[in-house]
Amino acid sequence: MHILGIETSCDETAAAVVQDGTTMLSNVIVSQIDIHREFGGVVPEVAARSHLEVMLPTIDKALADAFSTQAQTTGNHAGNPSASDPWSQIDAIAVAHGPGLKGSLLIGTLTARTLALVKNKPLYPINHVEAHTYANFITETAEYEGLAMTNADLPVHRPEFPLLSLTVSGGHTQLVLFDDHGDYELLGSTRDDAAGEAFDKVSVMLGLGYPGGPAIAAAAEHGDPDAFPFPKAKIANSPDFSFSGLKTAVLRHLQESIQADYAFPSFELAPHLTPEQIHDAAASFQRVAAETLVDQTLEAYHTHQPRSVVIAGGVAANQELRQQLADRLPVDIEYAPTGLCTDNAAMIASRGYFGTHVDKSTNPHQVEVVPNLRM
Ligand code: KG4
Ligand code: ZN
Repeated sequence: MHILGIETSCDETAAAVVQDGTTMLSNVIVSQIDIHREFGGVVPEVAARSHLEVMLPTIDKALADAFSTQAQTTGNHAGNPSASDPWSQIDAIAVAHGPGLKGSLLIGTLTARTLALVKNKPLYPINHVEAHTYANFITETAEYEGLAMTNADLPVHRPEFPLLSLTVSGGHTQLVLFDDHGDYELLGSTRDDAAGEAFDKVSVMLGLGYPGGPAIAAAAEHGDPDAFPFPKAKIANSPDFSFSGLKTAVLRHLQESIQADYAFPSFELAPHLTPEQIHDAAASFQRVAAETLVDQTLEAYHTHQPRSVVIAGGVAANQELRQQLADRLPVDIEYAPTGLCTDNAAMIASRGYFGTHVDKSTNPHQVEVVPNLRM
């Protein structure tokens, strides 16, 4: 079964074709990072317009990549009917309809609704945050030039249920226990900032720009992770997370280090900091943020004894987090390539496939965007 996934919840326009939920035939991502960088964050109106401009070419490319690859494998490109009419090979469409920015979600969702009607395909509305976990179900890919990953980058084994997923993105931080597809329990989530949000905000304080996660990780490579003993939040008897205290501790530390008072604006700190102060603060913050995530994951692991553990979402690309988990978790953990941790449409298509066993497709006229959709 071939599912076309469509993703536009934030600042990536993405389309992908995935076969049977596990084999990625194409994966096209048009990132708007360069457009938003000058504003220091995502500007919703600009994001929606950019999605609109590139949505259809992105889908066209995902379809062309998927089926010309198959044609290359069979050595029969010209005579391959699916290369000339890729839609004949698509069994269903899956689209992220929330959570996310309303204007952005509308572009992908309305495009998917229209295509489902015109091409007469079943349509599956997908929860973007839930779908992040499904990046870990992609264990094979058609290898061809232009697809940024190979089979060697992908997990070898498909995760097994019960499955514990630490989902850490720019908007969400949660531990979810899946008993099956579509059957899960939310064990804990953040009480304040999401992990990715904390990376992004600390990055602004350190003058490292947007998006913060990769910038902090790069700066941390030159710093001492034990330079500053930032506090680690632990909410008593709760699997929930909190990151705002850590973020404030970094701010206070930086203000003190330049002898400024607590009213000194966070976005004016960076020019007063030395490279060493920036690198040490980045490394210390990253260590404590990762420890916070791993502590709770470990506790949930011991309580629920899942068969598999996965991490998902943009922050799952963080190497310090991966290293700490590998060191402390008493179970082997396989990681999705970083390009499938951040927003993409292959995870949407994979969730769509596994959803076909548990969810009904929805009348395209009734698929609405839900910006604050919860798991
Ligand atoms: O999942 P995602 O691409 O979009 C959302 O659904 O939010 O996550 C984006 C978040 C951003 O906050 C970004 O700073 C963070 O993921 N991120 C990282 C890394 N790469 C992206 N955080 C830490 N380390 C990274 N390498
Ligand atoms: Zn995401």
